[in-house]
Amino acid sequence: MKEELLELRQKADKDLKELRLPEDIERFRVKYLGRKGLLSEFLSRIPSLPQEERPVIGRLANEIKVDISKRFEETTRALGEKQPRTTIPIQDVSLPGRTPPIGHRHPLIQTIGDIKDIFARMGFQVAFGPEVELEYYNFEALNIPLDHPSRDDFDTFYLDDEVLLRSQTSTVQIRVMQRQKPPIRIIAPGKVFRPDTVDARHSFMFHQIEGLMVDEGVNFAHLKGVLTLFARAYFGPDTRMRFRPSFFPFTEPSAEVEISCTLCKGRGCSVCGSTGWLEILGAGMVHPNVFKAVGYDAEKYTGFAFGMGIERIAMLKYGIDDIRLFFENDIRFLSQF
Ligand code: PHE
Repeated sequence: MKEELLELRQKADKDLKELRLPEDIERFRVKYLGRKGLLSEFLSRIPSLPQEERPVIGRLANEIKVDISKRFEETTRALGEKQPRTTIPIQDVSLPGRTPPIGHRHPLIQTIGDIKDIFARMGFQVAFGPEVELEYYNFEALNIPLDHPSRDDFDTFYLDDEVLLRSQTSTVQIRVMQRQKPPIRIIAPGKVFRPDTVDARHSFMFHQIEGLMVDEGVNFAHLKGVLTLFARAYFGPDTRMRFRPSFFPFTEPSAEVEISCTLCKGRGCSVCGSTGWLEILGAGMVHPNVFKAVGYDAEKYTGFAFGMGIERIAMLKYGIDDIRLFFENDIRFLSQF
């Protein structure tokens, strides 16, 4: 009898260790601890034992029953099973699935998209031009004479005598006007390259968006209107603008366009250098020589053009203080957008 009991305990021990599934837990309980289980059956045989064996075997059987019950409960609790009678589903199929992490658009691409949307509402279409460009499109056709300082090797990456990495998106003005007749309303986003030393505000590669509108009767008021609508839509309805006389070989008159500081709202702070104003783009009325280069009748058509740096726009909008953040691929920066 005693051997039988000890053997029973050993088997129960082994089975306990193998408990994993809810069905196994219940099966174990019925087999060992149930009303018709092995232990009950054993206890029911005690009265038929010889008188002197009964107390010893009885005590041992009870000890073992208590011991197995205790450890059974511990095991089921450890398995996260509080009520062994109810079967728990292994998986809750009603839980939402786990989405794999997905990326998103780069903040500069998002900025280009936002700017495009605003100009699209004013009827502007998107145009593209090559990044590797002929000198003619980057300079000559844009009325930039041979002796102009920006033609200097130091301001442009030359690939050979006539081929270069474009230093401005104004090249696309020429390419579009060569292809089509007025009316023209385009914006042209893209990369430009300048041999600048990299620091918090400069990069040898950055992005611009060019704008061009040409038709009969287009004047400076249209330029002001379009840019003011853009600035208010992009930076907020309270944004103020000012146009300061400037010079570009391909526009006449030319202007530097500034908006009231996005940070201090014009009161003066470190971002705007205490002036309350931030320069965001260059613009002007298309120079007659540019029309001449593409074969347009400069007496019939007039137009305006503008060009802005996309990094700068995004930096002002989001309060980013270092242009290098856009290009370093640091996920801690990128994932904030
Ligand atoms: N291309 C000029 C620049 O890169 C900006 C500009 C574009 C100015 C169109 C006037 C008209 O600085």
